[in-house]
Amino acid sequence: MNVDVLLGLQWGDEGKGKIVDCLTSQYDIIARFQGGPNAGHSLKFDEKKYILHTIPSGIFHPKKKNLIGNGVVLDPVVLDSELKSLSIDSEDLNSRLFISEKAHLILPTHRFLDKASEVSKGKVKIGSTLKGIGPAYMDKTGRNGLRVGDIFQSDWDKRYQSMVDKHFDLLKLYPVETDFDFDYEQQLFLEKLETIRKCNIVDSTAFIHKALNENQKVLAEGAQGTLLDIDFGTYPFVTSSSTTSAGACIGLGISPRTINKVYGITKAYTTRVGKGPFPTEIFDENSKFLLEQGNEIGSTTGRKRRCGWLDLVALKYASNINGVTHLILTKGDVLSGLKKINVCSDYSINGSITKHLPYNLEHNDLRPNFIELEGWDEDMSLIKNFKNLPEPFKNYLTYIQEYLNIPISIISVGPDRKQTIYN
Ligand code: GDP
Ligand code: IMO
Ligand code: MG
Repeated sequence: MNVDVLLGLQWGDEGKGKIVDCLTSQYDIIARFQGGPNAGHSLKFDEKKYILHTIPSGIFHPKKKNLIGNGVVLDPVVLDSELKSLSIDSEDLNSRLFISEKAHLILPTHRFLDKASEVSKGKVKIGSTLKGIGPAYMDKTGRNGLRVGDIFQSDWDKRYQSMVDKHFDLLKLYPVETDFDFDYEQQLFLEKLETIRKCNIVDSTAFIHKALNENQKVLAEGAQGTLLDIDFGTYPFVTSSSTTSAGACIGLGISPRTINKVYGITKAYTTRVGKGPFPTEIFDENSKFLLEQGNEIGSTTGRKRRCGWLDLVALKYASNINGVTHLILTKGDVLSGLKKINVCSDYSINGSITKHLPYNLEHNDLRPNFIELEGWDEDMSLIKNFKNLPEPFKNYLTYIQEYLNIPISIISVGPDRKQTIYN
């Protein structure tokens, strides 16, 4: 049981990158198991901020191994620019980063298809990051995908070309104007494949099993969040991978019996970027407050995040699906200054009360019911110990813990590594 999993319980951007970076010293390997460059994981230390899209958030720690697992979809162009942005010596980087030969590739034409699909949907679009995630996973499950290991095979050129041809045929199905510069994008893609060729491409299951046999510790880093999961999220407004703890088994090739802790991470409120239902979303001055104080701008697309109160109905659902053993709460500091804080404890649907997340979250008669808790004024960003936190914030934490029946083990009070309280 040497694998712990850390994943988002909401619609992403809960602060996974920051906390993985904080926990890395306890592990030997940090492994991403799903998603791709739709993720944007922010880390801050020594006054510098970094955003990672594909590379696991343990990369800044010397001597730790970072694995991009088989469940990830990889865009060589994004990976190349990410590697360059890290300011880590290339030899050093090479000793820290490993890529599964079974990870699927995102081609430029996957991005074109993503955009064409979104444009053709008009008002009912998903709000995708347009990174080609959906089409790449469609090719994977359709058994047409190209994997990292394929670039080393003698029939690579032929297979790549036939995939591109298929994508151009598919693009004809979308009756929309497109503005793709295919020649430019293809040239860039082929050039950046060379970057991948120089990386440590590994049989990732053998890699991880060997490590586990040697009693090494692994932290599996989730991307997106449970409510964006392909099965359990707010379908169809979801991503295309399994973002839950079960996804860690599939995306790394490990048995459920190897998993020990499941860290579930939540903000002290809720945000969502992109389209889809969001029962506790607010549109008043509190929404503006959360957006501004929380700097709620998407790390990957720069879009404003929609803001709302904490939704315990959704959080309970997410905790159950993942079997969360440890809760992590981020961005409590953002709430400082609010007189009253609302937290959703149940929903009314057609007049009846439920604590169950319903099939149709866009039901016209669905209303979130809120409990109003006292706010606090103190700036928490410099607090280092649990006992020094403001009493109303502690009451807020107690309410959440008791509702979910899971202890909160880490509280984050700012974006920096140092702004972290271990409970
Ligand atoms: P991720 O995708 O889950 O890794 O989260 P993102 O990095 O996309 O978004 C989280 C944002 O909140 C980033 O800008 C972080 O730097 C920031 N952040 C993380 N934890 C805290 C916190 O406790 N307080 C504040 N104010 N910001 C935080
Ligand atoms: P991290 O790992 C927040 C959202 C998109 C869109 C939907 C589908 O940083 O938490 P996709 O590009 O996957 O087809 O988009 O999912 N989305 C995210 N929202 N954080 C993310 O990742 C996200 N990755 C995808 O905004 O609504
Ligand atoms: Mg993010």
